[in-house]
Amino acid sequence: MKYADIQWRDGQPYSPGYGDIYYSNAGGREESEYVFLRQNELTSRWRDLGAGEHFVIAETGFGTGLNFVLTMQAWAGKIETGQIGPQACLHYFGIEKHPVSPADIARVAGNWPELSAAYEELLAVYPPPVEGEHCRALLGGRVQLHLIFADVIDALEPWALQVDAWYLDGFGPDKNADLWSDQVFQLIEKNSGQGATLSTYTAAGFVRRGLQAAGFSVSKVKGHGKKREMITAVLEHKKITQSPTPWYELAQSHYQNRQAVIIGAGLAGLSCAWSLVQRGWQVTVIEKHHNVAQEASGNPAGLLMPRLSIDNTTDARFYASAMLYASHCLDALQNQSDEKFWFHDGVYSIFKASKAEKLIDGHGYAEQFMEILEQHDLKKYIADPNATVSFFSAAGWASPKGICENLLRVCGESLQLIKRNAVDIRQQQNKWQVLDENGQNIATAEVMIIANGVGANQFEPVSWLPVSSVRGQITAIPANESSSALNKALSFDAYVTPEYKGVHYAGATYRVGDANSELTQAEQDETLSHLEQCLPGVFTHPGQLTGRVGFRPVSDDMTPIIGAVPDKNAFAEDYKELHHGRPHAHYPPAKYLSGLYVSAAHGSRGICSSFLSAEMLAAMIVNQPLPVNRQILEHLSPARFLMRKLKRGQSLD
Ligand SMILES: Cc1cc2nc3c(=O)[nH]c(=O)nc-3n(C[C@H](O)[C@H](O)[C@H](O)COP(=O)(O)OP(=O)(O)OC[C@H]3O[C@@H](n4cnc5c(N)ncnc54)[C@H](O)[C@@H]3O)c2cc1C
Ligand SMILES: C[S@@+](CC[C@H](N)C(=O)[O-])C[C@H]1O[C@@H](n2cnc3c(N)ncnc32)[C@H](O)[C@@H]1O
Repeated sequence: MKYADIQWRDGQPYSPGYGDIYYSNAGGREESEYVFLRQNELTSRWRDLGAGEHFVIAETGFGTGLNFVLTMQAWAGKIETGQIGPQACLHYFGIEKHPVSPADIARVAGNWPELSAAYEELLAVYPPPVEGEHCRALLGGRVQLHLIFADVIDALEPWALQVDAWYLDGFGPDKNADLWSDQVFQLIEKNSGQGATLSTYTAAGFVRRGLQAAGFSVSKVKGHGKKREMITAVLEHKKITQSPTPWYELAQSHYQNRQAVIIGAGLAGLSCAWSLVQRGWQVTVIEKHHNVAQEASGNPAGLLMPRLSIDNTTDARFYASAMLYASHCLDALQNQSDEKFWFHDGVYSIFKASKAEKLIDGHGYAEQFMEILEQHDLKKYIADPNATVSFFSAAGWASPKGICENLLRVCGESLQLIKRNAVDIRQQQNKWQVLDENGQNIATAEVMIIANGVGANQFEPVSWLPVSSVRGQITAIPANESSSALNKALSFDAYVTPEYKGVHYAGATYRVGDANSELTQAEQDETLSHLEQCLPGVFTHPGQLTGRVGFRPVSDDMTPIIGAVPDKNAFAEDYKELHHGRPHAHYPPAKYLSGLYVSAAHGSRGICSSFLSAEMLAAMIVNQPLPVNRQILEHLSPARFLMRKLKRGQSLD
């Protein structure tokens, strides 16, 4: 994916590829306000929004973000004047196949100084052009911008949104038929809530007929300025469609109090705490150690890097979005702290021969995400003359322990840390309780998140989750003159961080089924040998055993487990016929253990996956649109393990 090719004509952006303008050169701002905000009657509809409610807008053709910025500004005005309930949130889905570069957006912003603050907020969170979903909070969390960088069909297909208002702002239908096809209109209907409205500047007959055929009641109204007509539409009767995967269908949640209990104070648990606290929740975190980050998340260093795969898989798309999101969160956390724990300097990755090209070809990664460095000083030090050096600018390295301590700090008084061992959990009268070794209740709440790393399946309701642990050891290496020249983290068969306070950290070994918690010479030698093979003569041998051992929480399929906890008994009953291959419409939607969620099995990439996973859970808990599409939701869902067995006709016992 590349940034849009834009020409500037009389100070206004123009697309030579589509032969069209981004917005009307005469009064673009007024036209946008008239066509999209006014015709969707946003002001009056927002007035009815109560505390904690949300409103969803989706736009086909996010472009320069003008419509978004105007909408956010209008929303901010309503917040300031108290016309919208507290904690009410605007979710804005901006779909874009050719993201406009930040430089071009900044140039557009120059046309409207009165919008500069809003544009600055947008630019501060604007992701690089990487295909997929990028959810970012603006206006202190009162706006969630979901940028979906993809063709409109790929963008809408894997969602089942309940959009309240649509802005159809593709280039002219005569110049860009792809954005105005019947298939697009059907996807718009599928992603609309009952009563959804829609507006567009065009009055083209085939657009009107296509929307009607998809189920919308369409009207022609006066266009802006000298334009005669434009289209508005409303979905009066939404078609009821059955999900093709009812076993992954999420239940609507309605909790009485905004209070949650989280078990585990590592990256998974504390990132969940932060996501909920930012939504006005109070959280109680139960941790068996004297402090946070004493287990896997206690390492002094680790890399923020996505899990890469040559094929454009759901997993690769999740990790790419997760890395960009984590990078954004870590920037925000670091800005609030004097103590340095996040080093957003990028990561050099050394690949054998053609792997880097294959990765780029497989995903269409832009250089803003992954760049092959043809010439680089680093090559002087690398043993393999055929190796390729790539650079991931959004990546970096961090102290997981420092991240956890800072997450605890920013949650402030909204987080209570209880240092106790959770031995059991049970649900009584709709509330989950955490019990200690004497069966005494430690904490109670309607919502509970299990985020206790390798112990995630120790409690009966989730004992069927296939979570285990994989030992790993990192090594601390004293810096020397040549090693200090390495100014960024490096990833290859292993990884090494740049010198900080005189030390590099290298790792990590991977030992399945090994419970030894002591440092071993054999593993230290293995790490040093990896370094020596890749960069001969650069690093000094530490001369003693030094580093840290930790246990990665992993699942059977090496993928994180994120979501609401299914009711295993109900699954066994409801889906027992599944292996007979009956149509999905035959089956009821999934049933859950209400209020119970899990964030586990972050494996070797918890710095990367924890933050986006936490946002997924928080969105499920407060009943808001998710930051990821259904494919990713299903990929990570705890229910996948049950479904695999049921599809094979196996018992769940
Ligand atoms: C050697 C090594 C190197 C790694 N390198 C990287 C890297 O470079 N990049 C990267 O992204 N990731 C890396 N990881 C992975 C990353 O550290 C983990 O994915 C992440 O820390 C997992 O976080 P967590 O919160 O799920 O688990 P943990 O950090 O283990 O947290 C779980 C918490 O739950 C608590 N707990 C458990 N049971 C109970 C109970 N019954 N009651 C109360 N509290 C309980 C534990 O004490 C612990 O504090 C590495 C891991 C290891 C081991
Ligand atoms: C008229 S511009 C949108 C202007 C934008 N709303 C603004 O505020 O600047 C149309 C946008 O639609 C995008 N687009 C065109 N075809 C698309 C497709 N098939 N899927 C998604 N976006 C598409 C273009 O890249 C362009 O940015």
